Amino acid sequence: MASAARSSLALRALLLLAAAVAGALSDPTPLQDFCVADPQGACKPASAVVDDDFFSAAIASAASTANPFGANSTRATVSTFPGLNTLGVSITRVDLAPGGLNPPHSHPRASELVMVLSGEVMVGFTSSANLLYSKVIRENELFVVPRGLQHFQLNTGAGDAVFLAMFDSQSPGVVTPTFAMFSTKPAMPMEVLTKTFLMGEDEVSAMRSKFAGF
Ligand SMILES: *[C@@H]1O[C@H](CO)[C@@H](O)[C@H](O)[C@H]1NC(C)=O
Repeated sequence: MASAARSSLALRALLLLAAAVAGALSDPTPLQDFCVADPQGACKPASAVVDDDFFSAAIASAASTANPFGANSTRATVSTFPGLNTLGVSITRVDLAPGGLNPPHSHPRASELVMVLSGEVMVGFTSSANLLYSKVIRENELFVVPRGLQHFQLNTGAGDAVFLAMFDSQSPGVVTPTFAMFSTKPAMPMEVLTKTFLMGEDEVSAMRSKFAGF
């Protein structure tokens, strides 16, 4: 009896420890007002923190959409904006040419709130039941993409479009399945791709050559 109680206590301690370790891997709740990252990854000493640590012009300018997707994402995450460190938020600006597409991708560490600044954008995400939820949104309108789910943004308007993607993570991460399949280093084995896509090697090679530059 005593030994059973002891082992259940040990199990509970182990679960707590696992939860603490898992917690350390996600965006923490801040333990202090701020922790501006210094280049070594520690907090900058408070005496050295200046107004500009809390400022970024990273997304102030339009980015070139002269690429095959007609889209360009400009990120203000902790790697370019150290003041975001430990705060659990970040933002990306996306410029879309007419017909431009931010191709299907997901963010493993964040939900995403999309707000259109100008133009008309179709936002859609796929649930884990493969149901597609989508809507065309316009200036100042919002659409939310739940954490980790695959989504896309397509410019359905006549002119350029710009939207903001706001994240509940200082570093949401991006996984784009087309790149994760066709432009990995080293290359994904041919057999994995032919079997995944039910295609022949010639078709896979054609896809690979399209994605070679990304
Ligand atoms: C995105 O925009 C920047 C700034 O205009 C540009 O330097 C970069 O080449 C663009 N990226 C793509 C993929 O077009």
